[in-house]
Amino acid sequence: MYPSLLSYNTFRINATCREFHVYDSIDQLVSLLPQLVGQRWLHIGGGSNLLFVTPHFDGIVLHSRIRSIEVVERTSDSVLLRVGAGEDWDAFVAYCVEHGFYGLENLSFIPGQVGASAVQNVGAYGVEAGDHIEAVETIDTETGENRLFSHAECHYAYRSSIFKHECQRRYVVTHVLYRLSLTFHPVLTHTAVVRILENSGLSPDTADAAALRHAVVEVRRAKLPDPHEVGSAGSFFMNPIVSETQAQQLLSTHPEMPHYPASNGVKVPAGWLIEQCGWKGRTLGRAGVHPMQALVLINLGQATGSEVVQLATAIQNDVKQRFDIALHPEVLYIH
Ligand code: EPU
Repeated sequence: MYPSLLSYNTFRINATCREFHVYDSIDQLVSLLPQLVGQRWLHIGGGSNLLFVTPHFDGIVLHSRIRSIEVVERTSDSVLLRVGAGEDWDAFVAYCVEHGFYGLENLSFIPGQVGASAVQNVGAYGVEAGDHIEAVETIDTETGENRLFSHAECHYAYRSSIFKHECQRRYVVTHVLYRLSLTFHPVLTHTAVVRILENSGLSPDTADAAALRHAVVEVRRAKLPDPHEVGSAGSFFMNPIVSETQAQQLLSTHPEMPHYPASNGVKVPAGWLIEQCGWKGRTLGRAGVHPMQALVLINLGQATGSEVVQLATAIQNDVKQRFDIALHPEVLYIH
């Protein structure tokens, strides 16, 4: 009987693996490393950003339960927190809001673990985790030694880091060092969040961090499926960046198209492109497109990984054909 991964992936794909190991300390992690030599292996956190494409992963799965939050330094205006990779992300954000450690409020209610925040550079409502990461502690799986990555070495970019690309599968994150402010400087760039504050009689000047967290939770509850009820991995695709010329062409035929400046072009919301192609709320087999947010693919119940891939591929083909834009999954496909 193979270990089940059902409760370790938010898409709720009923996959199994050859071996499953949970560890709760760096020493335990290091003691597992010899077993990985020459084997297929995978590290999963909350499993909120991956899709098991096949029903069986023929390899070893590691899962962190390194849990701790320590204040390692306090200055007149900031704190440095060392957080175990296996901490629940939203519980950590709640802890920060309660203790007056500011910066992560906009990242409330995102499923997953703290370790993944440093790999994935999770972002929402104008804030990215990497903006507040001072350093990342890892174990080099080839040598068993500690390696500390400074912020600059992490190469943070939109939903990307050195751990997701160049160094994928070599380093396992054990702790993340977050530098947070003792002064509240709210980021209120998203109108949906501001509107909820205003509905509660608050303005950007009167809202505190708890109110901002509450507003973000409300926006996410309204737009995104409840991870406890519906299988999904949040945004399935990344928002594509197109050239200035292509953006102008698209705007000439679709003046209402939302678009945002990006460092290397113009960012177009994938959710809008998918909706234009008529996919919002549609289903294919036991997989579907969320009726409130077309960027989110959902498991309608007992979907297989390949059913989700079929849906994703059909969407990619339609968006490519209609807009000449390639959509790339944000979700990691595990075969
Ligand atoms: N839109 C549509 N139709 C849709 C969905 C969106 O027209 O079905 C339009 C919206 O009207 C809006 C624009 O697209 O004008 C952007 O939508 P939204 O603010 O919902 O954000 P997003 O770009 O779809 C990104 C992140 C989310 C994050 C939100 C808020 C990515 C891949 N996703 O979504 O992150 O919560 O911004 O900052 O960048 C996640 O990564 O899992 C995730 C949920």
